[in-house]
Amino acid sequence: MMDSAMNQDPADAWDSTMFLYRSALKKVNTKIEILRDEFSSLHKYNPIEHVTSRIKSPESIVKKLRHYGREINIENMVECVKDIAGLRVICSFTTDIYTIASMLEAQTDVKILGIKDYIRNPKPNGYRSYHMLISIPIFTSDNVVDVKVEIQIRTIAMDFWASLEHKIHYKFEGNAPDYMWEQLKECADIVWELDSRMLSLNQKILQAEVPDRSRETAATVETDVIKLAVPDNSGETA
Ligand code: GTP
Ligand code: MG
Repeated sequence: MMDSAMNQDPADAWDSTMFLYRSALKKVNTKIEILRDEFSSLHKYNPIEHVTSRIKSPESIVKKLRHYGREINIENMVECVKDIAGLRVICSFTTDIYTIASMLEAQTDVKILGIKDYIRNPKPNGYRSYHMLISIPIFTSDNVVDVKVEIQIRTIAMDFWASLEHKIHYKFEGNAPDYMWEQLKECADIVWELDSRMLSLNQKILQAEVPDRSRETAATVETDVIKLAVPDNSGETA
């Protein structure tokens, strides 16, 4: 992968490699945006709350390579650091996670390099999320390169938990007091319970039959909007 970048001057190689990762992020972001637009305009349902993406900082890349005991160079970086381009998709419900994942998996230009389902198999600390390591082809002026992107898909509640876990991990550098890990694990169980109950409540809402008043409401709101925007000044003097 990215052979042409390896034969360049190191500074150029860095720039052209990072350019590929940025392009890959753009491409995956667009894929998700298209799915989101399709869902909300055609199916009147939005499985995606929001999306964030980032390119790993050079400092974090170096730390990761050191952690793996690898020499610091672009070739090793491209081979070993799988989350240089990273994207997080936040959904409302656990079912939405699998909907989005299977749609991405079905796209013919998306190559699946690895799946880690930490929802069905949560980590011992309570971490839940669906991880996809994919590669997508990036077409440049004279080349086509498969670029790796790590996609993490999780619910709002799972994301809330992961942010706090990350904060504790970062602050105490992995040496947080036991009670904190215990409470965090309890919170993870509560998060799972919350996600399950919200999902089941949502299914009940969808199944419930209620008269559709949306048209009626829309019409009366429309009348009031006209009153607001085009006030009837006929009785007034200037
Ligand atoms: P790294 O954890 O990145 O070294 O790679 P890995 O091969 O173990 O991949 P994994 O899929 O387990 O984790 C990749 C990413 O998921 C991490 O960089 C984090 O962003 C996230 N992640 C994994 N485990 C946890 C966790 O316990 N807590 C939090 N907050 N995030 C996690
Ligand atoms: Mg890990």
